[in-house]
Amino acid sequence: MTEEHSSVGNSKAIESNQPGIHENLEKIVSKHLNHAFEKPYQAHTVEIFNQLDQEVQSFSGPVILDACCGVGQSTRILAKLNPDALVIGVDKSAHRINRNVEEHLPEELCKQDNYRLVRADLNDFYRLVAKAKWPVAKHYILYPNPWPKAKHVQRRWHGSAVFPFIVSIGEQLTLRSNWPLYLEEFQMAAKIAGREGQLMEVTDQAKSSPLTPFEAKYIASGQSVWQLSFDR
Ligand SMILES: C[S@@+](CC[C@H](N)C(=O)[O-])C[C@H]1O[C@@H](n2cnc3c(N)ncnc32)[C@H](O)[C@@H]1O
Repeated sequence: MTEEHSSVGNSKAIESNQPGIHENLEKIVSKHLNHAFEKPYQAHTVEIFNQLDQEVQSFSGPVILDACCGVGQSTRILAKLNPDALVIGVDKSAHRINRNVEEHLPEELCKQDNYRLVRADLNDFYRLVAKAKWPVAKHYILYPNPWPKAKHVQRRWHGSAVFPFIVSIGEQLTLRSNWPLYLEEFQMAAKIAGREGQLMEVTDQAKSSPLTPFEAKYIASGQSVWQLSFDR
């Protein structure tokens, strides 16, 4: 397993040198909860955020945030499932965001006007969303890069400085992964931040309509996939 999934072709089960919850997780999360994250924002993320902010502030329905959306398949599916919502898919990879996936998707998923796909760095984007108090009803993080080596724990979202902002966004927050330890760690980190989550295996019914290309690949290769859900 590479440290970061480089393509959706990599569907091997996660291998990690970490036997359980990272020994420093509590210390890392507490540090981030107690210290302001003041890294300067990147100009391109601020610019795209400001464009979206105008639309979000004048939108009267619910907002759905699909973080790490990759090619935006889940963004389009969520738009279809939530026709009254504005669904915003965010990924830092221009290559993924701009990939033409529409020829592989049902036409009705592509002909909607209630979703946006943007290239932005979530380390900045999350802080901007939280500061602007976007009314995010549902927040998804589907198959985040796992960073399975123990020394890379701070590259996982729950080990990052932006984590306090992540858990503050969304009435509902849903993560999925093929590595249950990632979700167990996120669950523990969120508990330290005051949010209780429920971890369960994705049901067979949900698995029959995969939300993302990574999910489809893991299911096709016989792996279990897991969901961590938070509700206010
Ligand atoms: C494993 S892929 C999953 C993509 C998609 N959710 C799926 O399941 O098919 C993880 C995605 O997270 C994106 N990502 C990682 N770090 C990011 C960051 N700081 N800001 C925005 N996107 C990021 C990557 O570019 C990549 O597309």
